[in-house]
Amino acid sequence: MTRILSGIKPTGQLTLGNYIGALKRFKDFQDSGEVFIFIADLHALTLPIDPEVLKENSRDIAAFYLASGLDPKKATIFLQSSVSAHAELNAILQNYLYMGELRRMTQFKDKSAKMNDNQIGLGLFAYPVLMASDILLYDANIVPVGEDQIQHVEITRDLVNRFNHRYGDILVMPKAQVNKVGARIMSLSDPTKKMSKSDPKGDIFLKDDMKTIRKKIMSAVTDLGCEVKYDPENKPGISNLLTIYAALSDISISEAEERFVGFRYGDFKKAVADKVEEILGPFKARYEEILASGEYLEVLKEGAKKAEEIANVTLKRVQKAVGLLPIE
Ligand code: AMP
Ligand code: TRP
Repeated sequence: MTRILSGIKPTGQLTLGNYIGALKRFKDFQDSGEVFIFIADLHALTLPIDPEVLKENSRDIAAFYLASGLDPKKATIFLQSSVSAHAELNAILQNYLYMGELRRMTQFKDKSAKMNDNQIGLGLFAYPVLMASDILLYDANIVPVGEDQIQHVEITRDLVNRFNHRYGDILVMPKAQVNKVGARIMSLSDPTKKMSKSDPKGDIFLKDDMKTIRKKIMSAVTDLGCEVKYDPENKPGISNLLTIYAALSDISISEAEERFVGFRYGDFKKAVADKVEEILGPFKARYEEILASGEYLEVLKEGAKKAEEIANVTLKRVQKAVGLLPIE
């Protein structure tokens, strides 16, 4: 059976970009494959974060996972830090990725650009090793992610080739899978930048109230001209809104374009806001309920048990392959 694995790191408020690029899609796999979805809390430590904020973000993501339609009976939902095999495999695999290739990672370059060497933690530099460990522990075949994470899955693939070449057929080759529509949602205030977790004006946060969300969409930066047309180069703002609309409606970009022929920008934005409200409204209500009930705690406990069983089998296989002496 196909194994699917993905995770989100609890570093800040989740955005509409996270929802479209990752969260929304996870449940689609749970009827056809074995799904592992985790909260990448160890990854959240790669940049300074307040302990209370980290805990709150982790609870939020657990509740968002359940609100997105993931069913804990079908999917294994867990915290990365509660399965120690992640850190153990990391300790082995760090010897099979090299400084030169890690230094070329776009995410590392972006995040460390404004820091000097005495501020950059080793964990930020070695981020892809831990991510490779996450993926490889579960023999994952498919890794659904947004576009920005493709490079990390690619380096995982390089690692698999290198490792298997040396030790035989030990690690399973994973493949990144990105959305056809919405692999990279852009900021509403600067549509040439990715919607990340850092810009309160340009990012739609899943925890924003509906009024704020509508306001952000209505004041999204648009472009010259007046046609609602997909043209990311010359009309990045309109193209981003069309992408959001299409992704949330599960239709293609050209179908979305057809719907808005002859629309003025203002009316188009209103339709986008309505669509976002239609989808996020019920989703947010479920999230609130789940958070208040605390039911996510039991899910995480059970998930950790199931994940651990599978992860430990892979860990043993790798330990044996590299020559760590088995004593049981
Ligand atoms: P992160 O918030 O960096 O842990 O990302 C979690 C998941 O959301 C990853 O699969 C990312 O690729 C995806 N993601 C984050 N931001 C965006 C965005 N603006 N558009 C599409 N996908 C995104
Ligand atoms: N690096 C991912 C991100 O920032 C989160 C993540 C950690 C992940 N480990 C993973 C995603 C394994 C997929 C598979 O978005």
